[in-house]
Amino acid sequence: MQDYNAYKYSADETLLRGARWARDEEMMQVTRRIRLSDPAGVPHSGLPVISDGDSVYVDDSDTHSLIIGSTGSKKSRLFAMPMLEIMRRAGESAVVTDPKGELYELTASAFEQSGYRVEVINLREPHKSNGWNPLAMARAALRRGDPEKATSIVNDFAAAMLHGETGGGKNDAFWEHSSIAMLQGLALMMVEGTSFFPDDTVNLATLRHLSDNFRQADPRVRGGTGVLDLIELYPQTSISRQNLLVASHGTEGTFSNIKVSYEAPMQKLYMQHSLISMLSRSEVDFSSLGREKTVLYLIMPDEKTTLHKIVSLIIKLCYEQLIDLAQQHPRCQLPQRVNFLLDEFSNLPAIPDMAAMISAARSRNIKFHLIIQGLYQLSSKYGADNAHTIKGNCGNWAFLTSRELPLLNEISDLCGQDALTGERLITVSQLQRLNKDRGEVLMLVGRQCPYIAHLADIDEYVMPRNLPVRPYPAMNLDAPPTRTIAEILANAGSGTVKPTNSIRF
Ligand SMILES: Nc1ncnc2c1ncn2[C@@H]1O[C@H](COP(=O)(O)OP(=O)(O)OP(=O)(O)O)[C@@H](O)[C@H]1O
Ligand SMILES: [Mg+2]
Repeated sequence: MQDYNAYKYSADETLLRGARWARDEEMMQVTRRIRLSDPAGVPHSGLPVISDGDSVYVDDSDTHSLIIGSTGSKKSRLFAMPMLEIMRRAGESAVVTDPKGELYELTASAFEQSGYRVEVINLREPHKSNGWNPLAMARAALRRGDPEKATSIVNDFAAAMLHGETGGGKNDAFWEHSSIAMLQGLALMMVEGTSFFPDDTVNLATLRHLSDNFRQADPRVRGGTGVLDLIELYPQTSISRQNLLVASHGTEGTFSNIKVSYEAPMQKLYMQHSLISMLSRSEVDFSSLGREKTVLYLIMPDEKTTLHKIVSLIIKLCYEQLIDLAQQHPRCQLPQRVNFLLDEFSNLPAIPDMAAMISAARSRNIKFHLIIQGLYQLSSKYGADNAHTIKGNCGNWAFLTSRELPLLNEISDLCGQDALTGERLITVSQLQRLNKDRGEVLMLVGRQCPYIAHLADIDEYVMPRNLPVRPYPAMNLDAPPTRTIAEILANAGSGTVKPTNSIRF
């Protein structure tokens, strides 16, 4: 292995001859040194570039980072874990995806002891989680007088649940579109129906009741108790009414196909009683991340990917809520920095508008650290153009190891070559032999020359050790409060319930 610090050329010669490695001193100049042993804490967090576990040079600018390494390459031990600890010492907020629950177990107690609000959305074991109810977020937006936001949250929810679930056949786009319209309609029926559905009944349990009772309306039967009977109480202009009529029109055969496209993916959620409880209770408030020291762990099963779509939805809705909050502050910046530390990012279903989100985040005091196994996954999820934008918006890249040839070539190209001899600064073969035991990482930081870092392992960091693991929250597993169509219609018959007057009626 070559000695990466024995460069061939001086800084002046770089422009003349092309590529060279950055020196330690150069990296020190463009990063900020923090001391984790300093009891006073550290001023800012950031990507570690030089680290012995106590003295750490971090990029504390507003630059996003991309950390690339195949499984077992120490992405967690050299980056995710130390960065979370540095965020805690800096008093910054964090949203962290945690595929194994390892980050929670290592860091949650220390966060709590540092006065943090600790929130957990645990999709791996929903009975050990705080509650999070996406539909309640929509109702809350409506209550704030923002019906567009309410509709947009419902649309995001419906798309996350059903997009890509029908397969790729010729007619699938139609079934997908119709089933999404059905879900939007049912969800909006609850969200809009402020006088029919009390706030705490706007949830997945009520949604399930509505979809189970979709089509009982029969013009020959008076007094039915289906969704289509209830929708008669909604004004003609109601968006839910329009969506539900789209979904329910057509022949019986068409309708049953739509219902299958809707139900198959939704049943996967409904099968887990504790998951429905968790997604039906409103406990986690995303805006606290931007206001006070808060850490939100998104614990997800790493072996089963069916629930990953919920993680993507959480990230999207959380980000949007933070942007709304930033809008209310000077220079549209959050008063508290929020870091999205997203492990397994490219295993998550594509987050709509991610490329735009990452572009807009910097000026709002939001930083993204994306951890991925390779670029192929990123392109296959986001498409070449969006993947390109996402990569391009990450000013810092850390590369550990990979067997993906196009990625190896891309990094080797980015590192450059000697203008005279054509010799590459680092070859594809050398890139695969970075020394894992020594924490060797190739880093492309801002406009600096490529740098080979030797980063401390998490075991070498100065941080609280042997704290007992923070107990997971205990989810209330009682059936969530619901409202049935029959109850509503019975009250409406007695004249006690008036049609609601909320979203653009
Ligand atoms: N106490 C330790 N000290 C140093 N290295 C360790 C220690 N324990 C495990 N390792 C090494 O770290 C590797 C795992 O590191 P880490 O969990 O950070 O990888 P990763 O890239 O995050 O993997 P994944 O993609 O599975 O999340 C193991 O393969 C092992 O070689
Ligand atoms: Mg890991």
